[in-house]
Amino acid sequence: MRITVFGATGRTGRLLVAAALEEGHHVTAYARTPGKLGIAHPDLSVVEGRLDDEEALTRAVRGADAVIEGVGSESEGTRRIVRAMAATGTRRLVAISTCSVPDPADLPDLRVRALARFVRTVAPRPWSEVRAAAGVVRASGLDWTLVRVARLADGPPTGQVRTGHYGHGAVGMSIRRADLAAFLLGQVTDRTYVGAAPAISG
Ligand SMILES: NC(=O)c1ccc[n+]([C@@H]2O[C@H](COP(=O)([O-])OP(=O)(O)OC[C@H]3O[C@@H](n4cnc5c(N)ncnc54)[C@H](OP(=O)(O)O)[C@@H]3O)[C@@H](O)[C@H]2O)c1
Repeated sequence: MRITVFGATGRTGRLLVAAALEEGHHVTAYARTPGKLGIAHPDLSVVEGRLDDEEALTRAVRGADAVIEGVGSESEGTRRIVRAMAATGTRRLVAISTCSVPDPADLPDLRVRALARFVRTVAPRPWSEVRAAAGVVRASGLDWTLVRVARLADGPPTGQVRTGHYGHGAVGMSIRRADLAAFLLGQVTDRTYVGAAPAISG
């Protein structure tokens, strides 16, 4: 499949790009600083651009079977990505989100509330941007999935991912980036969570 990755130069993004190439996909990595990617592969294309470069965004998503968005906290950029996808007919959007974004199926969870309150206090802009970006994704009309995570950790993949909603006791507060990357990649072909915002953890 042809997969476009935003946030490709990030810690999760690089793992995701590598995993997608390993699985035989063609990857288009969108990056404002392509030199940070550090991956060369015959099935890898790089499009250099910022999130306000509509021509580059459109070029990056045209012909893609799916887009994985890992920037997260840039709602205007997310809006432009969604617009480019709508214009080019690319429908599948898998986006990283956080536990600061509630879902109607969540139950009250003290740990999640405490973390979200902490983020809101120390980083009010990312807190509000990630929530606004989630609103853009939900209203996009695309085949979207918001993958909500609490804390990210490094380390080798465990291959174990728990899915559910916060407050039900099914998911914890941390996941390794390698496991998140594998889950995101799986969503490209899995339609279980189309139009949904699962919370996941290790
Ligand atoms: N860290 C956590 O514990 C945590 C918790 C919950 C959710 N998340 C979310 O999970 C995702 C992945 O996290 P991570 O720690 O693996 O990522 P990361 O290493 O911080 O990388 C972030 C990526 O987003 C890109 N990016 C950030 N701001 C951008 C902007 N204004 N315009 C264009 N690109 C921009 C970065 O590009 P450059 O390389 O050019 O900077 C990089 O590719 C993020 O969306 C983050 O918000 C993180």
